[in-house]
Amino acid sequence: MSRSLATTTTVQGNRPSRCLLPAGLDPARLPAHVAVIMDGNGRWANQRKLPRVMGHREGVEALKRTLQLCSDWGIGALTAYAFSTENWSRPGEEVSFLMALFERVLARELQALEQEQVRIRFLGDLEQLPEGLQQLIADATARTAANTGIHFNVCTNYGGRRELVRAAQLLAQQVARGELDPADIDEAAFAANLHTSGECDPDLLIRTSGEQRISNFLLWQLAYAELHITDVLWPDFDEVALTAALLDYQNRQRRFGGVESGLT
Ligand code: IPE
Ligand code: IPE
Ligand code: MG
Repeated sequence: MSRSLATTTTVQGNRPSRCLLPAGLDPARLPAHVAVIMDGNGRWANQRKLPRVMGHREGVEALKRTLQLCSDWGIGALTAYAFSTENWSRPGEEVSFLMALFERVLARELQALEQEQVRIRFLGDLEQLPEGLQQLIADATARTAANTGIHFNVCTNYGGRRELVRAAQLLAQQVARGELDPADIDEAAFAANLHTSGECDPDLLIRTSGEQRISNFLLWQLAYAELHITDVLWPDFDEVALTAALLDYQNRQRRFGGVESGLT
């Protein structure tokens, strides 16, 4: 991926080592879809006696690193929680900083995303976002829609409950128009009306900064995700931390309500 997306490049001889899957990881058993709750930016800044927003700025670098690694390692989709429907309750200055940051980063990185075949989508209630950001999002989504690389979903003004309510409304409208029989509303029909429509459910959810909660993220889609909670603060999330999460995932027995294979 281009230099503007890649912030750290370690070189062994002439080859960037970041394309290699770390030892111990089984390439055949990587998650197809990784979701991440990027938490701990404020604490990272506090620890350094910096304003909270500096943590958000550094958090962008961690997201770029994570996208780069997931793309390099052949993970199909990365879904990142950037701003929740509840985050509007933060001080106005912090919210304004975040909106401006999203705009600046998207404008700066779009060309690299395009070149690297990343397909970017923004999931959430986008109409509440600043006009300029909405336009950039529409442009970035359209320009990368046919890309064949990693699916990069950025949850912005996203809330799991709001997404579920919206799906119910969309289904009700289809019924009211006579396009859908209520008896045909099944799990697939419901999932098709979520923001994540067309994407497989996350196999692995990573939450940084040690908080052991979902915070209204992907309530439907995480039904059978494996959870990895790390004390690492999001701005410090790096190749070592991602590798640890993937190793943890590969050590799990996914049963989906069944019984452990090999046990009777
Ligand atoms: C996550 O970091 C970023 C957003 C929610 C936008 P926080 O800002 O929540 O950081 P902490 O939890 O206060 O450390
Ligand atoms: C979750 O983090 C939202 C994002 C990472 C965007 P929060 O910091 O908002 O979550 P709570 O308030 O600790 O649950
Ligand atoms: Mg937080």
